[in-house]
Amino acid sequence: MTPETTGTTPAGSTAVGSTEQHIETTERYAAHNYHPLPVVIASGEGAWVTDVEGKRYLDCLAGYSALNFGHSHPQLVERARQQLGTLTLTSRAFFNDQLGPFSQVLAELTGKDMVLPMNSGAEAVETALKVSRRWGYEVKNVPEDQANIIVMEGNFHGRTTTIISFSDDKVAHDNYGPYTPGFRTVRYGDIDSVRAAMDDFTVAVLFEPIQGEGGVVVPPEGFLRDLRDLCSEQNVLMVADEIQSGLARTGTTFACDLEEVVPDMYILGKALGGGLYPVSAVAANTDVLGVITPGSHGSTFGGNPLAAAIGHEVCRLLATGEYQDRARRLGERLLAGLEPLVGKGLDEVRVRGLWAGLDVTPGGPTGRELCERLMERGILAKDTHGMTIRLAPPLVITEDEVDQIVAAVTESLSA
Ligand SMILES: Cc1ncc(COP(=O)(O)O)c(C=O)c1O
Repeated sequence: MTPETTGTTPAGSTAVGSTEQHIETTERYAAHNYHPLPVVIASGEGAWVTDVEGKRYLDCLAGYSALNFGHSHPQLVERARQQLGTLTLTSRAFFNDQLGPFSQVLAELTGKDMVLPMNSGAEAVETALKVSRRWGYEVKNVPEDQANIIVMEGNFHGRTTTIISFSDDKVAHDNYGPYTPGFRTVRYGDIDSVRAAMDDFTVAVLFEPIQGEGGVVVPPEGFLRDLRDLCSEQNVLMVADEIQSGLARTGTTFACDLEEVVPDMYILGKALGGGLYPVSAVAANTDVLGVITPGSHGSTFGGNPLAAAIGHEVCRLLATGEYQDRARRLGERLLAGLEPLVGKGLDEVRVRGLWAGLDVTPGGPTGRELCERLMERGILAKDTHGMTIRLAPPLVITEDEVDQIVAAVTESLSA
């Protein structure tokens, strides 16, 4: 019997039940920190997922870009399977035979001397903040406890107490105080605002080259280059959070490549684990990451052999350039399809590679309503900040599938 006829999940899964049953159990026993669309996914392959009723959807969120290579990429699954049966965890109390080769290929991919592996994106951001402060005190000679870090309005860098301390999203921020001091918020994309906030005790500027959760917000042309120049001139670390924008999403390996800019530190996550496993890292040169000494930072799981094996395979996929090319080529098709919708239900469309932010026109469907209409048409997407929806399909989608997305958005706007 097939899932279509029984409503059960595919072979190998122990969960059985209808959409309603799964939603009820999840809502009853799991805290309500998300507001998901009412679809219960049971399996995924490539750009497609199948729900417990057997209905197929094109996944246009791709795990917030963690699934750049699609669901269950055969090469990644095969490598993970091999490593699962060989060695999964040693802790960093010992060396393992996977971490060195993974660190080497990731250092090569980023063009940096070394990497520091962690697990979730937020942990990698925390790592970058700690490294920046330490570098400030030990290399730049900032007086004790005086370091400041410049961050951008509309940022999203994760959910830890320190990170939400400098979030201007009230829902993410409020009632978690007391907050971590030492951050200055400036206007995103405004180099004068960054310059005005800098002083002798500024150790880093933390930014997203394109703001993902903000709604695929692209800074003005030249901002990244100006930021590079300013940071170099003022001896301040330029720290690029490429957790969502990096690893081929924008048609280049890193979004910073779009302006041919090299930051002092890359923060990576999401797609680094191929959608199979949480793998994150920061990458920088020895004069920066060298401030980390034994015991000064760590994680039980960071750099474990399973994570390293998967991350290594992801770097192999990226080294081919195929995914960057696909994102660039198919992104042009996506842009060409979506642009004519401006003025016909959309106020603005921003596209970089296979990453699109669509601002819906007030008075029409909200972002959430549009996502619900898309879902009825077999497309899964997610709104951000109410009136914007983000499209980030796996980079393995085909031209036909891009056209399906455009057709579904067009229909949904006029439904
Ligand atoms: C730019 C950016 N930084 C950091 C994070 C946090 O990553 P994680 O959810 O893995 O902690 C995210 C997650 O969406 C992100 O988009």
